Amino acid sequence: RQDAPVAVSEIDSLAAARLAVQDCRRCGLCEHATRAVFGAGPDRAAVMFVGEQPGDHEDLSGQPFVGPAGQVLDAALAKVGVDRNASYVTNAVKHFKFEPRGKRRIHQRPDGGEIQACKYWLNLEIKLVAPTLIVALGATAAESLLGGNPRISDLRGRGIELDDGATVFITNHPSYLLRIPDAGKRAEEQEKFEADLGQVAAIAKQLVR
Ligand code: URA
Repeated sequence: RQDAPVAVSEIDSLAAARLAVQDCRRCGLCEHATRAVFGAGPDRAAVMFVGEQPGDHEDLSGQPFVGPAGQVLDAALAKVGVDRNASYVTNAVKHFKFEPRGKRRIHQRPDGGEIQACKYWLNLEIKLVAPTLIVALGATAAESLLGGNPRISDLRGRGIELDDGATVFITNHPSYLLRIPDAGKRAEEQEKFEADLGQVAAIAKQLVR
């Protein structure tokens, strides 16, 4: 493996980063994914959402959160009044990790080394976008942003300040809701997810940029 060919200090815009990430060889995930999926949104945004990694739809389209998980996220954001288009949406890991099964590609969770390798790109996005509030969607994003092995149930619903001054707010990953088989439990978790995002909306309204 080799490092990304462009040093982080030489990348001074999201446009340059978006090009450079396609040559990334920092871990092995680039070998099977169609492309790297970089973040999307305004160059400067007060709120950044961080997911886990692109899924099948995102790998094919090149855009984050456009598949089923993205639809859950979009619906919840619309309900609580957060404008996705005014936010920056990205992932902790930029390549889709999957296991081929027949014609399907089954999502695999990225490991600690892959999360760490890709932190290079997430750090760069945080530096360039300079969000005040970073919403970690799920455990992989929380691990990338906070280190260790954070438990969503222990940390959700409150802000945790990072060294650079940004606040990380943790909630579940929207895919989690899609995987709950019991309708009652799913509705309960959906409500908690929307309540968390309602808090994000309230904080976002106070952020004047
Ligand atoms: N899940 C994620 O974590 N990110 C995406 O972009 C899509 C699905």
